Amino acid sequence: MPYAAITGWGKCMPPAVLTNADIATFLDTSDEWIVTRTGMRERRISHVPATDLAAVAGARALACAGLDPADLDLIVYGSCSYDEQVPNSASGVQVLLGAANAGAMDINTACTSFLYGLSSASALVRTGVVRNALVLGVELISPYMDWSNRNVAVLFGDGAAAVVLQASGREEGVLAEHLGCHADARQVLRIRGMGCSYANRGVLYGHTQWDFDGQEIFRRAVKGMTQATARALAKGNIDAGAIDLVIPHQANMRIIESVAKLAHIPMDKVFLTVERYANMSAATVPVALVEALEAGRVRPGALLLTPAFGAGLTLCSHVIRWGERVTPLGTSTAALPPCTRSALEMVNDYRALAARRAESEPGLRAPRFAESGPLA
Ligand SMILES: CC(C)(COP(=O)(O)OP(=O)(O)OC[C@H]1O[C@@H](n2cnc3c(N)ncnc32)[C@H](O)[C@@H]1OP(=O)(O)O)[C@@H](O)C(=O)NCCC(=O)NCCS
Repeated sequence: MPYAAITGWGKCMPPAVLTNADIATFLDTSDEWIVTRTGMRERRISHVPATDLAAVAGARALACAGLDPADLDLIVYGSCSYDEQVPNSASGVQVLLGAANAGAMDINTACTSFLYGLSSASALVRTGVVRNALVLGVELISPYMDWSNRNVAVLFGDGAAAVVLQASGREEGVLAEHLGCHADARQVLRIRGMGCSYANRGVLYGHTQWDFDGQEIFRRAVKGMTQATARALAKGNIDAGAIDLVIPHQANMRIIESVAKLAHIPMDKVFLTVERYANMSAATVPVALVEALEAGRVRPGALLLTPAFGAGLTLCSHVIRWGERVTPLGTSTAALPPCTRSALEMVNDYRALAARRAESEPGLRAPRFAESGPLA
């Protein structure tokens, strides 16, 4: 059976930066609180739709692999923030890339979507269903963020990245993984207002209210990522000491430190982006992977570990063998259109829209959102 080698990688970060100080202009919070509790200093706010971010990241990954878009057999779009529900986002990326021969599917396991997508696409490559696949991790959280809620508004950012998988005779790509889900705790992270349960009930799409028990998610994240890592290492018969670099999901610096400690991996083997990008959900791990490569932190033949968790509460950990090549074969000219507004201006627009909606629909939220679930 062939392996599914990662032969291309590319990211697309929106340029507008939202700092902790920016957020403190409209929420009762501070740079000091956010940095000490989360490790986050800034995050990006996109001025374009998610599929545009995805297409630029995808074009860069394809150029890196030296692969023509027409040679792609499959596009997997990992995300929980689709531009539209129907048609799916992967088909939008197919059009933008000109990858007319590729199948196209979306995967939503929240923050772990890229990694669940990596497992799915790797399995399809390994079993011969497809030869060349593009796996994306994309998230556009700013439009549906509840910018009046300091518990969540400080934690997230927008971004996208992609990898190209190709069938290979060498032992590369995902060697072992564990996928799981603490569904008994799925109620601790729910975004009310997104999904068909709210359709035709007077709730505007994107008019959200976040159920968010940060402390419980924190506990479950540490436990889940640690367990998933132990299981993935055991499956691959790999000792934690053999891991060269950990590229974790980055929801909180303290979660990452706890997982590394419990997995007996020193922090100097952990690659961090949380300070600059905050939590980009599905985009977090692939963006960090691309930046680790750009920073020369991935050596040829390196063994990587990518523990992650997300709403659901989904969890996973992957052991990945890198190939011999750590530099791109080519570069793409794909780029975003210029951004003419500051991140704070864009966020203030979302806030103004939400305020106008609340004024025109007094009392809409409360009776529609009962504690027991979306249909109550
Ligand atoms: C959210 C999180 C950072 C909160 O950190 P914490 O140390 O657990 O903080 P607490 O929940 O104990 O809150 C402590 C206080 O800070 C306040 N607070 C919450 N957000 C705040 C903010 N942005 N600024 C200032 N104060 C804030 C709370 O209201 C609380 O005040 P109180 O003691 O007067 O009630 C942390 O729990 C976390 O990272 N959880 C997991 C992350 C996550 O869920 N990511 C998404 C899934 S991938």
